[in-house]
Amino acid sequence: MNIVQLVYSSRLAPNTNPSEIAKIHKTSVENNENAALTGALLFGEDCFLQCLEGSRETVSRLYSVIANDPRHVDCELLLVRDVTQRSFSKWDMKLILLTDQNRKELMRFSASANFQPHLMSGDSAIRLLESFKT
Ligand SMILES: Cc1cc2nc3c(=O)[nH]c(=O)nc-3n(C[C@H](O)[C@H](O)[C@H](O)COP(=O)(O)O)c2cc1C
Repeated sequence: MNIVQLVYSSRLAPNTNPSEIAKIHKTSVENNENAALTGALLFGEDCFLQCLEGSRETVSRLYSVIANDPRHVDCELLLVRDVTQRSFSKWDMKLILLTDQNRKELMRFSASANFQPHLMSGDSAIRLLESFKT
């Protein structure tokens, strides 16, 4: 099966409590397993960076749902590409929370120590997410 990877950035909606992130993650793990979707979701400084991977049809359908979710705003597509294998095959949706410990990864892929995923190239964005794979 051809696999597509889609990466986008967004911001937590102003009136959304960060406690929603655990709920989003729970729903993602449950739904993605059934849909043969995998990926990673990085959250920090009120910003999201997510990679979805699966069949083109499933990824497109889910992205349309996610982009309309009122818990975040300013969805920006950073990357869509065909790949021969998944980067996050072990994870229905790996949640990564940006901390003082893992923040140094940012400096490897962006010019700033601040997390501003909408300013990243698609290539840097996917490589940042992949760096959290282990
Ligand atoms: C940042 C963000 C990431 C999300 N990621 C996923 C995901 O990977 N899979 C998923 O099924 N829903 C995800 N959602 C939730 C969807 O927008 C939607 O609420 C959910 O798919 C509805 O599932 P339900 O019909 O089982 O309640 C995400 C939402 C946000 C705000």
